[in-house]
Amino acid sequence: MQSFDTVIRGGTVVTATDTSRCDVGIRDGRIVALGLDLPQGAREIDATNRLVMPGGVDSHCHIEQPKPGGPVKSADTFESGTTSAAFGGTTSVICFAPHFKGTALTPGVEDYHRRARQAVIDYSFHLVIADPTPDVLRELPPLIKAGHRSLKLFMTYDASRLNDREVLDVLALARTESAFVVVHAENHDAIRWMTARLEAAGHTAPRFHAVSKPALVEREAVHRVIALAELLDQPIQIFHVTCAEAVEEIRRAQARGLKIFGETCPQYLGLTADALDRPGFEGAKAICSPALRTTADQEALWQGIRDGVLGVVSSDHAPYRYAGPDGKQAYGMDAPFTKVANGVPGLETRLPFLFSEGVVKGRIDLQQFVAITATNPAKLFGLYPRKGSIAVGMDADIAVWDPTLTRTLTAADLHHAVDYTPYEGMELTGWPVTTLVRGTVVVGEGKRQVEPGYGAFLPREPYPAMQPRGVFPTEFNPFA
Ligand code: URP
Ligand code: ZN
Ligand code: ZN
Repeated sequence: MQSFDTVIRGGTVVTATDTSRCDVGIRDGRIVALGLDLPQGAREIDATNRLVMPGGVDSHCHIEQPKPGGPVKSADTFESGTTSAAFGGTTSVICFAPHFKGTALTPGVEDYHRRARQAVIDYSFHLVIADPTPDVLRELPPLIKAGHRSLKLFMTYDASRLNDREVLDVLALARTESAFVVVHAENHDAIRWMTARLEAAGHTAPRFHAVSKPALVEREAVHRVIALAELLDQPIQIFHVTCAEAVEEIRRAQARGLKIFGETCPQYLGLTADALDRPGFEGAKAICSPALRTTADQEALWQGIRDGVLGVVSSDHAPYRYAGPDGKQAYGMDAPFTKVANGVPGLETRLPFLFSEGVVKGRIDLQQFVAITATNPAKLFGLYPRKGSIAVGMDADIAVWDPTLTRTLTAADLHHAVDYTPYEGMELTGWPVTTLVRGTVVVGEGKRQVEPGYGAFLPREPYPAMQPRGVFPTEFNPFA
């Protein structure tokens, strides 16, 4: 007879394809049986009236990412950030090993590994490429082989933007060395031009952040980077898509067979640019890039999720405090929007938000919920079939949900080190109550149950989604 370390009993197991009533048997950190009336486990978790879902994979979150050259710093450490992730039902994160112009890559990656050893859930890294000099490009092959299979590039931000030639250099290197590329796509020069005019006119309040970077600067950059990726036949994911126009660019590329993937985030589904216009400096809490848009854009994003054009919804968790000398107010309570740290926190709220606003409100079904929060990101970033679903042989990364539990969101109840949530006062129905990583209960009975350091690095091998198509737009194969 089979023996189990843990049995999750009596629940409804949900995956990206199926819903079934069965028990889950776990041994040595893995799922070893799915079936009815499994034998007693050493530990039993009663899942009666609960949903048993794959733990979330958050493929875009900024945790303890150094931010030099100013007072602003990440409030979350790996301990606090991954703890809050686990409370929100997330079991793996992919964060960003930093890079800065004029510096080598490797020391920053090594330092980031040291920091991440305090994680309580599993983690992997995208490598930020802020300065693709020949020396930096030479550093990449061993780093990629060590399991850092995704590179992050920015088309805006003074400190990290690449020009089109540099974008091509990174795409080419990725294709040659078997890495995937993720992109922050906005037209840098257009934003700078608009910002200078706004500043000259004295328009520096938080709401002008959205005016400085309207949807069309995103649409243009999305279009451009898709063209560059097509030129080199390199698969990419467009990060944090916010607007109908960018969804359309990605939809068109996908319809042509290109391996262009799209991601959006809860803030673009749940907040509009009106949040930037809250009284006093409150609007600063909602400053993120790309900027918040309109309710019509939100509808286009939900439609893009339902169509599969936007296959991943990640948090883009950016843990800057509102108060204090190192967060949104670092340059004062009336700082111009250009001085306000960009980003909103959301690791812990990503899944409950999507469950409540998505599944409970009928915008997506349970299978779509699991797909966009766990299965698709696991597949897109090479964590599948170890992570991202519930099947025999996979890591027992599982969140047990009470789908009827209703809570009013308030910052004080969250476990990140940030002093606010942009969704303060929002009522959400459906919350994870127990989170297991590799079969161990990381969060249960309202408490964290493991010590910092339980989380493990997830090196990634080449995987199907990153494979190029072998189709070039001209007769010339630049890689032959
Ligand atoms: O505003 C944002 N999204 N901050 C985090 C950094 C980034 O651009 O992804
Ligand atoms: Zn970004
Ligand atoms: Zn980000």
